[in-house]
Order: sequence, then structure tokens, then C-alpha cells
Amino acid sequence: MNRYPIAVVVGSLRRDSFNRKLATALVKLGPSEFAFKQLQIGDLPLYNQDDDGNPAEAVKRLKAEVAASRGLLFVTPEYNRSLPGVLKNAIDHASRPYGQNAWAGKPAGVLGVSVGAIGTALAQQHLRNVLAYLDVPTMGQPEAFLHAKEGLFDEDGNIGAATKPFLQGWMDKYVAWVKQHAANV
Ligand SMILES: Cc1cc2nc3c(=O)[nH]c(=O)nc-3n(C[C@H](O)[C@H](O)[C@H](O)COP(=O)(O)O)c2cc1C
Repeated sequence: MNRYPIAVVVGSLRRDSFNRKLATALVKLGPSEFAFKQLQIGDLPLYNQDDDGNPAEAVKRLKAEVAASRGLLFVTPEYNRSLPGVLKNAIDHASRPYGQNAWAGKPAGVLGVSVGAIGTALAQQHLRNVLAYLDVPTMGQPEAFLHAKEGLFDEDGNIGAATKPFLQGWMDKYVAWVKQHAANV
């Protein structure tokens, strides 16, 4: 019953990424009709407009996976008070060539975890700005600015007990948001 394929984009390539761990644990809180898939973005070349007519295989794969999705989930760290370059690179790739923006209309959720005090707030805000331009309806509330602290995950890698009610509420709202906006995608 996978009626809602969801493209999950993690903004970190780090092996032990907290954000990847968060994405993996978070999607377990979703319903069975949602099929979450983490997209690979680490093998994408740096975006170069000269290649629009002859995209690399990794670029074709990314665009096909985004096009096949009915929703987007961005889980990102904050790098120097913005979104990481690898994430922006992936977004740029699937937004082109001009007029063939694969992200357009796909309902999205944005969240992230960091070791810093503001828990990716500025990265998320910059990401929201980019997504607005790309015509991506992005859920506004609840916001989720998480700290990488003891107990965020349990020993099995699931969301820890203290944070789970909040993230279950986030996921429930996200599911409703996707269903509300996915009618045309
Ligand atoms: C280049 C770089 C810039 C960073 N800038 C920020 C920042 O602006 N705000 C913040 O909270 N953490 C910042 N950090 C720390 C990250 O929160 C931390 O490395 C985190 O583990 C990254 O997420 P990940 O575990 O998913 O890779 C930065 C880390 C790196 C490598």
C-alpha cells in the first residue's frame, strides 16, 4: 500500500551523520502507505549549466526519483549558518534545465539536527527560501530544530523517549500536509 513514495534528501555525506540517523529513525514514525527512500546525492557532479543537455547518470537518477515521488523530506545539518553545499548542489541539479524543475509542486517537510545552539534554524530558513522559489509547498509548522544530545536516539537507533512524542506529532502533521498537497503530483 505504498501510495505515497517520498524522496528523502539528507544534507550530510558524513558516515555517522546525525541527520542521516534522524531521517532513518523519523520515517519509522510514518504510516505504511508512505514509502520513504533516501536519495543518493554524494555522487552527483558539481552542477554545471553546460551539462544540461547531457546530464550524468547520477543526475538522471536523481531527477527520476524526485519526479516519481509524491512528497519530499529534507533533513539537513547547518553549515556556516546555511544549508550544506552538497544539498544545494542536488537541489540545483533537479531544478534544471530551465522549465523542467522536478521539485515543483511536491509537498515538503524540513527539519534538522545540529550540535549548535540554534539546531539548524538558519539552514532551514535558507532552505525554505530556495524551496519557495522552486514552487515547493513546504510545511510551516511545527518547526523542528533538534540538538544532537544524549538520548536523542535510543540504543537501537530509534528516536529517544523524550523526543518521540514531538516527532510523532511532526510526522502526523507532515503526513496530512503531503496528502493535502499531493493530489496533483
Ligand atoms: C563546515 C561546517 C560548518 C558548520 N557550521 C555549523 C553551523 O553553522 N551551525 C551549527 O549548528 N553547526 C555547524 N556545524 C556543526 C554541525 O552541526 C555538526 O558537524 C553536525 O554533526 C553536522 O551534521 P551531521 O552529523 O548530519 O553530519 C558545522 C560543521 C561543519 C563541518
